[in-house]
Amino acid sequence: MPDQPMEAGTSLETVRSRCVEAGQEHLLAHWDRLTIPQREFLLAQIDSIDFDLMSRLHAGGGFATDAVALAQRAQPPEAVLLGQSYRGFSAKDAIEEGNRAIAEGKVAMILVAGGQGTRLGFDLPKGMFPIGPVSGRTLLEMHVDSLRGAMKRFGVSIPMLVMLSPATDSATREYFEINDRLGLRHDELFPFLQGSMPAVDATSGKILMESPHQLALSPDGHGGLVSALTKSGLMHQMRQRGVEQFFYAQVDNPLVRACDPLLVGYHRLVQSQMTTHVVRKRFAKERVGNVVQIDGRTQIIEYIDLPDSLAEQTLPDGSLKLWAGNIAVHVFDLEFLHQVAGLSDSLPFHRAFKVVSYVDAQGVKHKPSAPNAHKFERFVFDLLPAAERTLVVEGDAAEVFAPVKNADGAPTDTPADTRRALSRLHASWLKDAGVTVEDGVYVEIHPLWAWDAGEVRDKIQAPGTITADTYFA
Ligand code: UTP
Repeated sequence: MPDQPMEAGTSLETVRSRCVEAGQEHLLAHWDRLTIPQREFLLAQIDSIDFDLMSRLHAGGGFATDAVALAQRAQPPEAVLLGQSYRGFSAKDAIEEGNRAIAEGKVAMILVAGGQGTRLGFDLPKGMFPIGPVSGRTLLEMHVDSLRGAMKRFGVSIPMLVMLSPATDSATREYFEINDRLGLRHDELFPFLQGSMPAVDATSGKILMESPHQLALSPDGHGGLVSALTKSGLMHQMRQRGVEQFFYAQVDNPLVRACDPLLVGYHRLVQSQMTTHVVRKRFAKERVGNVVQIDGRTQIIEYIDLPDSLAEQTLPDGSLKLWAGNIAVHVFDLEFLHQVAGLSDSLPFHRAFKVVSYVDAQGVKHKPSAPNAHKFERFVFDLLPAAERTLVVEGDAAEVFAPVKNADGAPTDTPADTRRALSRLHASWLKDAGVTVEDGVYVEIHPLWAWDAGEVRDKIQAPGTITADTYFA
């Protein structure tokens, strides 16, 4: 930002005329009362807005196609089913291929951690939430440790790209610094910033102000990944480093095995551009995205957009026809992401009707009690239909999916549920090695101690019974 008053004035005129042209001149209503740093801050925020996009969105353009209409044609996806071979490749073939690719440095991990975590209601970024059932390690530690487990197993350095947003950026970076990047080297940890989108008044389309010098901005959704990877230079940097695939996971699901070789391996063997991990839905209206096939393309229909009559369809054996639930674990070809990043409309927007507090042009603060504003987000899974070659791989929910979404006390996806799932998974590995874990006892295994059931078997010399909470580290 310019520091000379003259230059600031020049900028102001440019910005003012853009605002006037876009019908958003109220953004400068408090200008005369602002300090110089506040003015600079506001100008920079306004400058980052794509007003053309905002007016297109207000006019109803740029959104995802009507999902409810699409859902009528939804068919179950062709998928790699648990325990079955696919196109002649067994799970063993896939794991071997995945192991090889990881060991050759062809895989990097992307962890998205830019969400506001509103449902959990935790004051810090969700990644800093303590979740280890015995250790109390945070969600970020769980993911980084899993990646370090992979590095140890394959004897290779694997980059960890962590997407942050203004809501999580400074606290998360500080957390990494204070904690020695959780054991990663400088050239292994790459935090990067996603974009923001303004919230607009749902009736008038006017951009809302959080305070007299701040727009009401929120992260642009996990789909913001596509442009953020390019803008940050990381796409280029990873390509130079020889990365061919990105393994994508969300910070809220600590059951994910970093760079899961099975997924990476199948992705490579069938030359998929985007692979997605699914689990069998437990019931028809479970609150997960439905991975389906529509007109030959893989797509995700949100549970809210899938009419009951379609969700409840069954096959002759009584199982759900639309069975595949999205767990937000994907593998992307770097070249595919690079290609879609070049398309201006690679990802549609989704609009949410939310409560957003704001300051009006007279400086009066409003705290609405009902939704008043539209927020705009892009979803990374909307890339699926853009890919020529996709793959869906079934996983066992008990091994791969236990997200922290809600605060304790809610019916599902609470921290207590996730801790139980982690402990159960690790108990199953111990059981496999001949160990008995007493009911009600929590166990937890650090990935550097053992990364999977096989490593647990190698470690356990004298199986016995575990009678108190135990952390294997
Ligand atoms: P959710 O959509 O579940 O959002 O994000 P959230 O922030 O975790 O929780 P709520 O909805 O506010 O309660 C799924 C994943 O996508 C990331 C989140 O950090 C989480 O890992 N995400 C979401 C981003 O990185 N950026 C975004 O803009 C949105």
